Amino acid sequence: PNPTRRTERQRLCDVKGVPLISSMHEIFGRVEKFQAKADDVLIATYPKAGTTWMIEIVDSIRQGGITKEIKTIPSHERAPYLEMNSQDMIPSGLDLLEAMPSPRLVKTHLPFQLVPPSFWDKGCKVIYVARNAKDVLVSYYFFQKTFIGLPNTGTWDDFFESFLSGNVECGSWFDHVTGWWDVREKHQILYVFYEDILQDPTGEVERVACFLGHTLDKGTIQEIVKHTSFNMMKDNPMTNASTMSTSVLDLSISPFMRKGQVGDWKNHFTVAQNERFEEEYRRRMAKTSLRFRTEL
Ligand code: A3P
Repeated sequence: PNPTRRTERQRLCDVKGVPLISSMHEIFGRVEKFQAKADDVLIATYPKAGTTWMIEIVDSIRQGGITKEIKTIPSHERAPYLEMNSQDMIPSGLDLLEAMPSPRLVKTHLPFQLVPPSFWDKGCKVIYVARNAKDVLVSYYFFQKTFIGLPNTGTWDDFFESFLSGNVECGSWFDHVTGWWDVREKHQILYVFYEDILQDPTGEVERVACFLGHTLDKGTIQEIVKHTSFNMMKDNPMTNASTMSTSVLDLSISPFMRKGQVGDWKNHFTVAQNERFEEEYRRRMAKTSLRFRTEL
C-alpha cells in the first residue's frame, strides 16, 4: 500500500495545543523548519473564511491581471497549502513549495503561534482573512462532510458543539481570529474581513494591491474584481475545486463554492442555538476590540 494514499477520515491530534489532522501532525516538525523567502506572500485564514477567494485576488494582483497561468493552473498549485501532507491526489505543500519558483504564494490555516518563524525573520507580507463565526460554522459543516481528510462531521447539532468548543481541525475560531488580530501591528500583516470584500470588492482589492506595493490601473482592478466574483469562481474549474479527486473531495454532497453570502447562518441556526452561540461569543470576545458583521 502507498503510505501517502489516504482516503479515510482522519482523527485530530494535538500539535502544541491545537487540534490538527493526523497527517499534518506527522510532518509538523518539517513544517516548523520551513524556510520562507522575503518575497513570499502568506495567506492565512481560519478554514472557510475566504482563503480561495483571497488567493485568487492576490495572485491576480501579483501577476498584473488575469494571465494564462491564472486561467490554466488550479488554485491549490498556485498557492500551495503549507501544512498539508500528501493525501491521495493532493501533493504535500512543502514539496510543492520547495519546487516552486519565486515569488511564491503560500496558504496556511495555522494559528499565529504555529506559523514557521522564518516568515517573521524574513519580514514576509501576510494577508489574514477573517469571516464571522456563524457563517464560518455553516460553511465548515458542509465542507467537512465533503472532504474525506477531515474527521466525521456528525449531525449538525454535534458539529455546532464541536465548533463552539474548538474541537475541530485548526482549533478554536475565537483563538484563531483574536490571535492574529493581536499581532497584526507587530508584523507586516493586513487583516481583511470577508464581509468587507463582499460589500466593496473594488475597495478591498485596491487595499490589498496597495499593501503588496502594486499600482494597477482601474481597468485591471475591474478585471480582477470580475474574475474573483462568486459567480465567476463558482464556474471556474481552477477555483471551484473540481480538479480534485472525488475520492478526497466529494462535491456531490455540497459544492466548494456553496453560497458565498453573509447571513446564511440564519437558514441553519435554531433560535436556541443562536442564543447559546451569542452567550459563548460574548464571553470569548469580551476582551478584544475585534468586531464582526453577521449581516450586511
Ligand atoms: P460558503 O460555504 O459560505 O459558500 P475557503 O476558501 O476559506 O475554504 O472558504 C470557502 C468559502 O468562501 C465558501 O463559503 C465559498 O463559497 C466562499 N467563497 C469563495 N469564493 C468566493 C467569492 N468569490 N465570493 C464570495 N464567497 C466566496
